[in-house]
Amino acid sequence: MIKTCLEYHRATSYDRFAMSGHSLDWANQPKVFKEYPGIPSITLPRDLQMPQAKLSAILGEPFPAGPAGPLDLETLSLLLLLAYTYTAKARHPEGDFFFRSAASAGALYPTEIYVAAKGVKGLDNGLYHFALQSHSLHLLRKGEVLEQDKGSESRAAFFLSAIFFRSAWKYRARAYRYHLLDTGHVAENLILALKALKFPFSVAYDFDDGEVNRMLGLDEQKEAALAIIDVPGKEGRYPKPLEPVSPLPDSLLQRSRVSAKETDYPAILEIHHAGAHRAGSMGERVRPEREMIHELGIAPKMWTPANTSESWPEIVDYPDAVFRRRSRRNFVRKPLSRPVMNALLRGVCASHGSSHDRSLAIGFLVGAAEGFEPGFYLLDSRNTSWGMVSPGRFMARSTSICLDQAWLVNAGVHFLFLANLGALDKVWGPRGYRYAMMTAGRLGQRLYIASEAMGLGCCGIGALYDAEAVDMLGLNQGSRLLYLVAVGNIKRQ
Ligand SMILES: Cc1cc2nc3c(=O)[nH]c(=O)nc-3n(C[C@H](O)[C@H](O)[C@H](O)COP(=O)(O)O)c2cc1C
Repeated sequence: MIKTCLEYHRATSYDRFAMSGHSLDWANQPKVFKEYPGIPSITLPRDLQMPQAKLSAILGEPFPAGPAGPLDLETLSLLLLLAYTYTAKARHPEGDFFFRSAASAGALYPTEIYVAAKGVKGLDNGLYHFALQSHSLHLLRKGEVLEQDKGSESRAAFFLSAIFFRSAWKYRARAYRYHLLDTGHVAENLILALKALKFPFSVAYDFDDGEVNRMLGLDEQKEAALAIIDVPGKEGRYPKPLEPVSPLPDSLLQRSRVSAKETDYPAILEIHHAGAHRAGSMGERVRPEREMIHELGIAPKMWTPANTSESWPEIVDYPDAVFRRRSRRNFVRKPLSRPVMNALLRGVCASHGSSHDRSLAIGFLVGAAEGFEPGFYLLDSRNTSWGMVSPGRFMARSTSICLDQAWLVNAGVHFLFLANLGALDKVWGPRGYRYAMMTAGRLGQRLYIASEAMGLGCCGIGALYDAEAVDMLGLNQGSRLLYLVAVGNIKRQ
């Protein structure tokens, strides 16, 4: 029985010499859209005014933003469009396949969005499911569904969930990693949209799982809420469902099923349910004593501050960067320029004030970047500074560790999202796994958007030989590489 972050991560590690083959059951491929036949749907407006900001300006916005303006249907539609929409279409004999603005391991898209709306002009109060395929809302509950939030006339609470089997169909027990990373990717898109439109918000990974899942009408064995983004929201407080929460009909719970024949992977349910206990309940914050970079058993000799006054070499505005975002793997061996490197480092360091930033450490391997000797570096995101841990040419070894995905060797830099899982367990308990992985996903998405804005290629990598990564980086016991994101110059068609 898995009870800790470390146990789950260990149980789902890849080992070069012990990879068990897994053939995909195509006849049982999960549906990528959640549908609610017979439930009224509201088409969201598409004639929308896009924000004209650059990503650098959005990340530089003060946090939290000023008082919320009133929400209306157009704004809600814009937020959802910027958070999660189609980007590209691939033609297949069995039907078109649509890629989305948030990256997803294997393009399996486990993440769903629900919105609890109150006082949104043009929309009745209620709980809605967001149908990305038709850019519309399904009404699941009428009326107010959340406890009163004093002082705000309009409110939208976004609930992000993952449907387990969508990713488990391919990745089996390892899929929980991708449920969390992928959901982090979608969360960051929504957060950037809120920042672009200057709405105050709060992000909660801590809430009563059972209560929230019941309100959303999820079959908890199949789908679970992972994050809540509340507008305007208050840090440290999550939007509580209004009691009593009546169960939704069984026919709606059934919508969490995505295949005729689904396999449950016990490791996924075990780590998820182990994390059901909240480390910090409302108001009572759990704060680790040390930043995660000090828990890895490695340290640079000196720190160098990033240049915080240099402007970013952006060639694409923020909304276009979101709509054009793709995983681009055609890296060329050309060093990243100094301003690009500086922008990337500042981009991943920018905080939206989340209390869970401390669950994760950021490192990077430099292959070729002006002003940086090749080597392994750590980032101190609080002070926006970097320090070299060890010099050397790591890219070939890192590529080999990433299941020999050969194109990775030409990337300029491999960003590394790291955590000491033992420390996570100690400070936050097994729920800490959710914080670290979703934070990693959020920063991964930010790197994707920043890369697109600067004309670079970017690709997230979840497939890696876990123990080999620990060995290469010289991490202490309990520390792991959770996620790698490669960024580099690419060959433009
Ligand atoms: C958590 C995560 C892990 C990923 N792992 C890999 C990987 O190991 N190799 C790879 O080529 N792409 C990887 N990707 C990229 C996805 O394959 C890609 O996002 C998906 O196919 C959708 O394509 P798009 O990003 O171009 O829209 C990963 C993406 C995410 C979010």
